[in-house]
Amino acid sequence: MPKPKDNKGLYTLPSNQEKYRLLERKNAEALLGGGESRIESQHKKGKLTARERLHMLLDEGSFQEIGKFVMHRCKDFGLDKQHFLGDGVVTGYGTVDGRLVYVFSQDFTVFGGSLSETHAEKIVKLMDLSLKNGAPLIGLNDSGGARIQEGVVSLGGYADIFYRNTLASGVVPQISAVMGPCAGGAVYSPAITDFILMVEKTSYMFVTGPNVVKTVTHEEVSAEELGGATTHSTKSGVTHFACSNEVECLKRIRELLSYMPQNCEEQSPHYPYQQQDESRPALDEFMPENPNQPYDMREIIEQVVDEGSFLEVHQGFADNIVVGFARLAGKSLGIVGNQPAFLAGVLDIDASTKAARFVRFCDSFNIPLLVFEDVPGFLPGTDQEWQGIITNGAKLLYAFCEATVPRVTVITRKAYGGAYDVMNSKHIGADLNYAWPMAEIAVMGAKGASEIIFKKEIAEAEDPQKALNEKVEEYTQKFANPYRAAHRGFIDEVILPRNTRSKLIQAFNMLKNKVDKLPRKKHGNIPL
Ligand code: HXC
Repeated sequence: MPKPKDNKGLYTLPSNQEKYRLLERKNAEALLGGGESRIESQHKKGKLTARERLHMLLDEGSFQEIGKFVMHRCKDFGLDKQHFLGDGVVTGYGTVDGRLVYVFSQDFTVFGGSLSETHAEKIVKLMDLSLKNGAPLIGLNDSGGARIQEGVVSLGGYADIFYRNTLASGVVPQISAVMGPCAGGAVYSPAITDFILMVEKTSYMFVTGPNVVKTVTHEEVSAEELGGATTHSTKSGVTHFACSNEVECLKRIRELLSYMPQNCEEQSPHYPYQQQDESRPALDEFMPENPNQPYDMREIIEQVVDEGSFLEVHQGFADNIVVGFARLAGKSLGIVGNQPAFLAGVLDIDASTKAARFVRFCDSFNIPLLVFEDVPGFLPGTDQEWQGIITNGAKLLYAFCEATVPRVTVITRKAYGGAYDVMNSKHIGADLNYAWPMAEIAVMGAKGASEIIFKKEIAEAEDPQKALNEKVEEYTQKFANPYRAAHRGFIDEVILPRNTRSKLIQAFNMLKNKVDKLPRKKHGNIPL
């Protein structure tokens, strides 16, 4: 077919077929990111490409790309001669289990996934859509931070993202997967989001890498030790999930989303549930006779919630407290449990901050809270005091006090001292508190209490040890039980362990339309 000409017949114009081919070429070019050799090197490192990750994360065929042909505008340091369509980040929307999500996936094959002005603009556009349309935002991060050649415009781009992360906090769930070496600005955006997932051996998070650390502090440290998944899931608590590979990481994001609503105005999805025998007789045999014998709180949680539904969050960090999502009769719950198997379940700084952040997330997104309590108190000592157990413990107290979602506590054994108040007591707004018959609700353990209040009597006794034993017995009889609290109405019901699940199903069903409001204010001032 002859080529079309302009109106006056002077110029030859490209045909529609040529225009289609140009689009095809551009699409193919965009799909290649930084080129085949860089894709190969990404694979050699055990990493997927930005697009392969999207394919794994989203429902088959659901991804719709936005901004595929965006290019950077930098002319410095030879960048005017290096252009890659999409500019190092693939952005768009799709579905997870049929529900809308917005997602960006940084492409390490293009300038190391570094963030330019235009790269930032693409992410910002997506964040605005996520906020306006009330659907979760997922970031798959694989970035060397600010694009060094662009200077301050790149820093400005990061600030634009941080600002929107903050505005979106509590409005839509934000999840960050760190899937490569992320430095500088590339770690601060995830830090503001609700959950961070990392991949063992291939992902790192640090403010600045080992080379700069060596120059500044003369400290020699590997990338893995400084900011690998194990470091951040056990030592710093920066990451909530350390996944053994990328596929597991992407599956975990899908699983996590299944417990959450799309935004703060909605409820989490309800899964079909067939009522059955809810009694759990094995729980009657569970509690050790010796009140100081440890046990794993996860075993209780798993028997009470829907089978296989418990997804632990922050496992490996602050083992003395367990937090995670679960379902009860098909509905999402946020679970917080003291963990007697580690440090007797004592509350320390890490446990308090871990649980406080989780409680805040659940409250932001209308996820009811269920607390399993067995806590001997706050951890005393100089280490904790000097690092601020007072301020940090108060975070958990504040988080529970401010939570307006349905809140229920089951005291399985110890509820001592300030920790009794903190762990979702009725005094700070819990709707219902249950206790098992072996619960001990008191200011402190019987021995410690007797040594203080009967100090003189014991010292003056003919046989001080015998006197102490008698006082411990007397104190135990009086206080090491749930009935004093139940007489006051602080405990709503003392229940058999076997009935815990059925009580909780009924309780949360009764609370499902709860409306509770905080006093009018701009915002509270949580003790940070
Ligand atoms: C531009 C970058 C880049 C960056 C990497 N590249 N980081 N280009 N800006 N920030 C490019 C490299 O030139 C290289 O290009 C390609 O990406 C791959 O990088 P490599 O170094 O070969 O990869 P690797 O050995 O795996 O090391 C990855 C890395 C390292 C650890 C991320 O590249 C690195 O340390 N980058 C700099 C990190 C950093 O300091 N960023 C600035 C942070 S300051 P070619 O063409 O060879 O493929 C910041 C400020 C914001 O972010 C603060 C807000 C609070």
